[in-house]
Amino acid sequence: MAVDLLLGLQWGDEGKGKIVDVLTRNYDIIARFQGGPNAGHTLEFDGIKHVLHTIPSGIFHKNAINVVGNGVVIDPVIFKKEIDALKKFNLDIKAKLLISRKAHLILPTHRLLDAASEAAKGKAKIGSTLKGIGPTYMDKTGRNGMRIGDLELSNWKEKYRLLANKHEAMIGFYDVDIQYDLAELEADFFKAVEELKTLTFIDSEEYLYQAQKAGKKILAEGAQGSLLDIDFGTYPFVTSSNTTAAGACTGLGVAPNQIGAVKGIFKAYTTRVGSGPFPTELFDEDGETMGRVGNEFGATTGRARRCGWLDLVALKYAVQINGVTELMMMKGDVLSGFKKLKVCTAYNYKGNEITHLPFNIEAENVTPIYSEMNGWAEDLTKMDKADQLPSSLNDYIDFLEKELEVPIKIVSVGPDRTQTIYR
Ligand code: IMP
Repeated sequence: MAVDLLLGLQWGDEGKGKIVDVLTRNYDIIARFQGGPNAGHTLEFDGIKHVLHTIPSGIFHKNAINVVGNGVVIDPVIFKKEIDALKKFNLDIKAKLLISRKAHLILPTHRLLDAASEAAKGKAKIGSTLKGIGPTYMDKTGRNGMRIGDLELSNWKEKYRLLANKHEAMIGFYDVDIQYDLAELEADFFKAVEELKTLTFIDSEEYLYQAQKAGKKILAEGAQGSLLDIDFGTYPFVTSSNTTAAGACTGLGVAPNQIGAVKGIFKAYTTRVGSGPFPTELFDEDGETMGRVGNEFGATTGRARRCGWLDLVALKYAVQINGVTELMMMKGDVLSGFKKLKVCTAYNYKGNEITHLPFNIEAENVTPIYSEMNGWAEDLTKMDKADQLPSSLNDYIDFLEKELEVPIKIVSVGPDRTQTIYR
């Protein structure tokens, strides 16, 4: 049995939470493979809006098991808040949510280090969510990290102390003024760890292997997007994990030959939150309209997202890196009312026209070259069948499918589960 992947193809916030929730009825297990509470996966159903950060988006479905894989980083304090927010839904969390012993822990001092590093960078800051993601993955690759499985050892607090002391010395190294009360942060952390320890820890790679052998259907849920990938994204303005398909293999222990469908999600336009290059970014009324109509504010930080036209050069690159086999286009409804739509099909790169993503896409190197298309005026949000879609939207979709050479199987026309059109 293959493991299917669900990945964001842009700079995150494509709508993965909604689609995983919609797809979960076809799967037995939903497994997160990277990232941590920097993610904000929004789900809407029955008039309820719910944001998940670390917990996989299959949690609301009765029969789905949700696995937090080894590639994920967990902040016990935020995790506890997520669990608390789920209490009103009466879910059997101990049975439905399984956590890898190999997942790494975000310590309070990781968050402080993140803040110190960003403050020291000044204008060159990454625009991190300040959840401690970078410093935690640095400790992981530096072989200093603490893992969920460590919490089962009697000496875990000693390990914690050594690492936290080191972090405090490192914070002192930065020439910035970070105010904090570590005793208070630690009190919250230790309390949250005790709650975390009541949940189910597993050897997730073995669990997933046995599940595959038993014929269970597994969906690996990505976080962030391909252009935030530590290797293939717009470095250094990226997150600290592999958000692309290969990350599912290392973040879950799934062998490459076990990967089945690769489902790629993109918005009908482009957004980015935080710093970094964004060739098709708009600074005019069109960009403002996308942000307002699309409610483009970060689910984790509340920051306004930068908006721009669809960048097919970047999207093709993501399709290629991930080996995407089917596409899902989100937020088509937000583009209703635009008379003309632009799609970036090539870059003018240092005087030459290119159609691949080069090393350096800063504004001084890259100018987007656009194709213009007719817009549509119809409100899509009440539509539920492909044959109701306006002809200009069908032209837009046909154009993208031809350019990307991958079928668009789902068109999402609103945030609710029900606002999903299958093609
Ligand atoms: P970090 O992962 O919090 O260190 O943030 C690094 C960069 O990735 C920043 O530009 C963030 O805004 C961006 N980022 C991190 N997580 C997400 C996400 O879930 N959606 C969109 N952008 C994200």
